[in-house]
Order: sequence, then structure tokens, then C-alpha cells
Amino acid sequence: MDIASRPSEAPENPKIADAAPPPHAPSVIRREDYQPPAWLVPEIALDFALGLDATHVTSKLSVRRNPDGNGSRTMRLNGDQLAPLAVRVDGQAVNDWRLDGPDLLLDLAGEAHEVEIETQLNPAANSQLMGLYASHGMLCTQCEAEGFRRIAFFPDRPDVLSTYRVRMSGDKAAFPILLSNGNCEATGESADGTHWAEWHDPWPKPCYLFALVAGDLVANHDSFTTRSGREVELNIWVRKGDESRTQHAMDSLKRSFRWDEQAFGREYDLDLFNIVAVSDFNMGAMENKGLNVFNTRYVLADPETATDSDYDAIEGVIGHEYFHNWSGNRVTCRDWFQLSLKEGFTVLRDQMFSADMGSPAVKRIEDVRVLRAAQFPEDSGPLAHPIRPDSYQEISNFYTATIYNKGAEVIRMMRTMAGPERFRAGTDLYFDRNDGTAATCEDFVRAIEDGAGLDLKQFRLWYSQSGTPQVTVTTQHSGDTFTLKLTQLVPPTPNHDGGAQPEKQPMPIPLKLALFDRETGTHRGEELLVLDQAEQSFSFAGYASAPVLSINRGFSAPVAIDFERPVEDLVFLAAHDDDAFARYEAMQSLVVRHLIAAVSSNLAEEARTAEREAIVQALRSILLDEALDDLMRGELLILPAEGYLAEQFLVADPSAIHAEREALKAWLGTKLRGDLEALHDRVSAVPYSRDAAARGARKLKTQALTYLAAGAPDEARRRAIAQYCAADNMTDRQGALMVLAGLDGPERGEALADFHGRYAGNALVIDKWFSLQAGSLHPKVLEHAKALAEHPDFTMNNPNRVRALYMALAVNPQAFHAPSGEGYRIIGDLIRRLDPINPQTAARFVPSLGRWRRIEPARAALMRAELERIAAEPSLSKDVLEQVTKSLG
Ligand code: ARG
Ligand code: ZN
Repeated sequence: MDIASRPSEAPENPKIADAAPPPHAPSVIRREDYQPPAWLVPEIALDFALGLDATHVTSKLSVRRNPDGNGSRTMRLNGDQLAPLAVRVDGQAVNDWRLDGPDLLLDLAGEAHEVEIETQLNPAANSQLMGLYASHGMLCTQCEAEGFRRIAFFPDRPDVLSTYRVRMSGDKAAFPILLSNGNCEATGESADGTHWAEWHDPWPKPCYLFALVAGDLVANHDSFTTRSGREVELNIWVRKGDESRTQHAMDSLKRSFRWDEQAFGREYDLDLFNIVAVSDFNMGAMENKGLNVFNTRYVLADPETATDSDYDAIEGVIGHEYFHNWSGNRVTCRDWFQLSLKEGFTVLRDQMFSADMGSPAVKRIEDVRVLRAAQFPEDSGPLAHPIRPDSYQEISNFYTATIYNKGAEVIRMMRTMAGPERFRAGTDLYFDRNDGTAATCEDFVRAIEDGAGLDLKQFRLWYSQSGTPQVTVTTQHSGDTFTLKLTQLVPPTPNHDGGAQPEKQPMPIPLKLALFDRETGTHRGEELLVLDQAEQSFSFAGYASAPVLSINRGFSAPVAIDFERPVEDLVFLAAHDDDAFARYEAMQSLVVRHLIAAVSSNLAEEARTAEREAIVQALRSILLDEALDDLMRGELLILPAEGYLAEQFLVADPSAIHAEREALKAWLGTKLRGDLEALHDRVSAVPYSRDAAARGARKLKTQALTYLAAGAPDEARRRAIAQYCAADNMTDRQGALMVLAGLDGPERGEALADFHGRYAGNALVIDKWFSLQAGSLHPKVLEHAKALAEHPDFTMNNPNRVRALYMALAVNPQAFHAPSGEGYRIIGDLIRRLDPINPQTAARFVPSLGRWRRIEPARAALMRAELERIAAEPSLSKDVLEQVTKSLG
């Protein structure tokens, strides 16, 4: 547990005993309270004597009074469960320091000093995975956001930039590889079996970008020559035996280097770039300067063990972390309220990269699906916050879809309004102006204004207002004029910490649109409108007959469109729209409006049948459209998720939504059975390769099975077994197993046992085995999940495994929303049990329960009760406490 990182051999120091325990009600940090640091640390030297359960740290800080600070003599050095074993100022042991809670305060008389502090850590006991921790015998660090203070007393804030010298020594047999940021400048060995290395990072950085790794690792080595001729050594470090699964990550890395040069003019700035894969990791990956640390799931892949989606995710995350070298590291954040400055921008960059590497149309649809599934519910729930929040209690809770994905959408809108060239001029200016500094979102907006020549005065509201704007569309046709009336409403969102959340104001909403001629199926060119008032009309002359409106093409704005329109228009667009997203959207709308009506039970049987038939026809034409590639066809066949459907209701009934959606799926599976079987036959004949056609075939293979499983389960079972047995890749095998896991019959258990036996020891694949079962459509899914929690392969100490079981359950509507409340109870119990082990990961499960206000009353009461049971725990972490309090409040 975390307390154990306090060294047992800490000297009896009354100042430590005096330190107040952290208060139960955590304090609120406010953006408006920002003060520049009183002291700067231009240089730091760290010395680590490494050991798994005892690592001794000596930090030497060259500190200088900040001319722009408040002039205080007191330097605040943040700590988190650290005890100072020795404190020296300018080489002299001193005693006039004091502890303020976990922090160390030191009064310094002059303008510049050298402050040296010794501490000791227990990495093996660090189950939070923040700071320095042990994972499978290796040592590694995670410092963002506030983990460095668990390693050394330091002003742990992103606006204190230092150059780092790191020396580490340790047992050579246990830790043959010693890595830190920058370049390795010296190494050596001692007679006692230890060795050491000295690293130097010439680029000043905040401490959240510090990293250290020590362990028995092997690398995939490669190199990349930058456009100006710098030869960069590339290494991807993994545990022995995993090196054969690193080639896709390496290829993705080299593509990232090249792409950032071409797309943003950004070149790498060191001679070495290291990536290390660790199995115990709270998030996806971390962009530490020159030493990225990755969750193994975003590094390791081969066709046998990784799905096509896994491959895509690896490419995206490798790109994301690499792109942070400029958007995050060279230009970092002034404070954590600016988190979207680096994350929103870097997500946009990784989205553009993946689009360029594959299909832009499919990528855009996937990105919107993620936004709607993860961010829209956040924006309409109790944890809503602007992309630049005004306050927080625990910053780890703000690594959200809002900061990341909505943040990317907001910058994408700027790009849409400016056009690609002018946007690029804006980002060039941003990097130029802010290189080497800790910047703000305001700095970014100003650079885009100046560089791209946009007026973003009103647009800044996107940074301060939370909530997904609703745009209502009405149309009118008279004479030869087509008129569009648009209104916008930014819904009210909760205001937790008393920060001013004034009434919402209209925001500039860029909407791409096209007007289609019903006869020819063509339009006269795409237009961009900017809706920037509460209500606005736009007229288009020269339309003798009413055109079909295609609006928010490419999802040009992250808004919800409310547009009552004839079914024929949706059918028309689903068949003809030349904007891929708009075509997908028409198909989705067709299904969404049907399901809403069906769930609200105001559909007569006859109307229900007619609407289902319209969907059958639309899907059939998609199945048969020869102009479509299979990857895109796969997108068009995806039914809207239950979570997204629930969002369409003020108060949702999860059972009714699930039942109607499953019934529609069964209807489609029955009516389209012949087409689906033919499709499954066709794509099953395509041999494995990584090209787009073969990936499209695999995507359709499992989709066909999914529809058949609903409409013709026996046929689906036969085909799934065949697909499972014939599979020469994980995409096919996992897809088939997923379908089987949702069906009854002896084959279910046999296939699951086969899968488990086949991949025993491969943690990432065993994660899939847990997820498939917890996410399945099987009626006994809760029973299965409870048994899995007792499985010998289950552990609370590995976040990937915890997520594999419990996140899959929390996003499985029929399991999570079981009328008995058992799904809520399982997640509530998990949060209470995980919190003392790993608060950051525990807190990630709270939002699923926090949605209670939008769920029908019986379940809402059960969800609320679960939150209250968590809140009643005597010593909750700040992480969980903040999320639970806000969810109840
Ligand atoms: N900056 C990382 C990324 O998005 C995320 C790290 C967040 N880590 C954390 N423990 N909160 O690439
Ligand atoms: Zn990031």
C-alpha cells in the first residue's frame, strides 16, 4: 500500500509527527488563483540508489528567486508521503525547514541557493502506480500529473522548468538496463555487482516529464534520420520474449516522426528516443521527454494476438505520445487548468495522423463515435466541465474525454474555419512564440488568431462553457428559395465549486452543409456557415424544388442536431451523401429516431413494421453497394450504441432501450439473413493481410455474425465455431468468441476454455478473455462476472485486468443496469475495494454510477444508494471523494 512508501527508517522528527493528516474535505484549486512560483529551479541533479523495496533518492536543486514571483523567502517543495532524511542548503545541514501537510517549506535568504534533500522510497509497496514503482521486477515512474512529489520534494507544478542530470546505480543483474530522459553520458561498474549510468537532458522541462526506468529489458533497435539530417536512435524496450511483437509500434513510430515533419513542420530534437512498455500502468502512455513509457497494450502486437483495432490504437497512441514532444514538451502547460492545451491539440494531431495513414472517412466516424459515447454523457452529467476547467480537487480526475476529445474538436473547428494552410500558419506561430515556455490556452488561441487571421473573440466561449450545444434546424421552401432557420442552446451544467458559471451564451458553430437535388442526387458544392447567434436564418436562392439538406458534414461542430425531417430524406442521404460522415449520420438517425419512437411506445405495430422495413431496405442497399469499400461498409452497419440512445432521453429506461435495440437487430438478422450469409461467405474467403481490403473483410465478418446471432442463432453458432476454428488472426478469433460468449450451448464453454488455454501467460490476450465475458449479451453475464472476479488470473493490482473485467461490465448496459441493482453493487464494491490500492483507477468507475439522474427512478435510487455507500467509507481518496461528491451533489 501507498503508506509504506514512507521509509520505516525515517528519523524521529517531531516536525513529521506534527504534520496534520490530509483533511477529509479536500481543498478546491482554482484557476483564478494562479500565482507564478516564488522560486525557480533552473537545474536539478538526482541520484538514485535503486532497489525494489528501498530506493534512496538524493536531489540537488539549484534554485533562484523568480523575478516575476511574489518575492517570498519561503520555497514550497511539494511532497506526497515523503520524509526528508536530510536537508542541506548550500552544503550545510539545516534544521529550519517545516512541513505543511505533505509539503516541505524552506526559508531562503538570498537570491540563489543549492538545496539538497535525501529521501527513501519503497517502490514495491507503491500500488497507486504514481511516482516510482515496481512492475514485474523492473522499476519505472509515472509523474504526470503530480507523481514527481512522490519521488522527491520539489515545486511540482508545470511552470517550473529545469534541466535534469540523473545518476542511478543498482544491481547489474536485476537492472541491466538503466534509462532516463535525454542522453546517456557515462556508465560504469563497481566490484560489488552494481553498475551506474548518468543521463542528461538538455531541454528544460517540468518535473511531470521526468522518467526513470531500470530493469531487465530487451529492445527493438532502429533509427530515423530527420529532415535536417539528425540521426536518431530509436529503441522500444520490452521484457524478454516480447520483442517479436514490437514491429508495428516501431513502424508507427517512424511514420510519426515523418508525419510531424510534413504536417506540422516539427522535427525531433534529441539523438535518442526510447519507449518502454510496462504491464502495470494507469493510463495509456506517457510522453516523458525522450523516454516515453507505455502500457504494454499500446505497444505489443502480432496478428495472432492483436486485433485490427489493437493495431489502430497502437498507431494512434504511438503518434500521440510522439507528437507531445512539441505539443506538450517543447511548449508545456502553465498550470493543470491548461491541460487541454497539450491534450486537445495532441489528440487532434494524432487523429489527423491516423486519418492520413488509413481511411480519413472511417477515422472521422470512429472519432465521433468515441466523442458521443464518452464525452457527450460527461457534458450532460454531474461531472460536466469546460475544456479549460475553472476548478478541481484532484487533477487526475480531469484526464477526461472533455479535455482530450472535445478539446480536439474545438481546435478542429478553428482549423475548419481557417482552412488547412492558414491553420498551419497559426500553429507555426504558436510553436515559435511559445517554444521553451509554459503556456496557456489563451496563448494558443491568440497565436491562431494572429497566425491564421481569425477573429476568435466569441469563439473563446468554447473554452469556458461546458455542455453540448443543441442546434435545432427548421427549413422552408418558397418560390425558388430554400431557407434554413437555426437556433442554438447551450444547456445549463452543474457548478460545483462555486466558480462563476454565468448563463450560457451563444457560441460560433461552424456547420458544413450541402443541398442535394432529389432527382440527380448531386449538390452544387459544400458551404460553411457559422451560426453565432441564438437564432439565425440562411437563405439559398435558385432551388426550384426543395433540396435535401445535409448538415454538420464531417461533424464540423461537436453539437447535437435536432432536425425533424421526413424518413425519405434520411433514406436518400444514407444512399447518396458524398460526405462519409453525413452518410453514416443519416443511417444512424434513421435507426435512432425509430428506436426512440419504439421505446417511447408511441408506435403502432404497423408503423413499427414499416419503419423497420425502411431500415432493412437502407441496410440492404449498403450491403449491396459496390462502390463502398468494406471498412466503410462496416461503419454504416453499426447500430447506435445503447448509451448514445439513452442520451436521447431526458430520463432513460435501459431495459426498454436494450429490448428494442435487440429486437431490431433480430429483425434485421432475420430479414437480411440471405444477404448476411452471402456476405459472411464472401469475406471469409479473403486471406489475412494488413491491407485495407482484408481489414474491411474481417470487420464485416464479425458484424455479419452479430446480426445473424440475433436473428438466426443456430446459423450464427455454426458459423462462429467455424470462424473460431479457422482463425489465423485475433480479429477473427475474438469476433467469433464474442458471438459465442453471448449464446448458450456447450460450444460456449468449450471455446472459452480453448481460448484461455491457448493464450495462457499472455496477459493482454487474457484481458480480452475477461472483457468478452463481462461484455457479453449472455443473460447470466452477472454470474459470469462474479465468478471471473474469483478466477486465479484476476488481480486488483493490475489496472488492465481490472478494466478488462469491470469496465467491460460497466459499459455493458444489460449487465450494469440489471433491474436488481446487482450491476451497480458490483461496481460500487469494486470502487470501495480498489480505492485503497489504486485511487486513480478506482475513481474512473464513478461516472457510470453518476448518471443516475438520467435513468428511470427505480434504478436511479439504486445507483444513488451505491454512491452513498461509497461516500460513507471512512477514508476515501481525494480522487474518489471528488467524483462521488459531485455525482451526488
Ligand atoms: N499525458 C498522458 C497522455 O495523454 C496521460 C498521462 C496521464 N496520467 C495520469 N496518471 N493522469 O498522453
Ligand atoms: Zn496526451
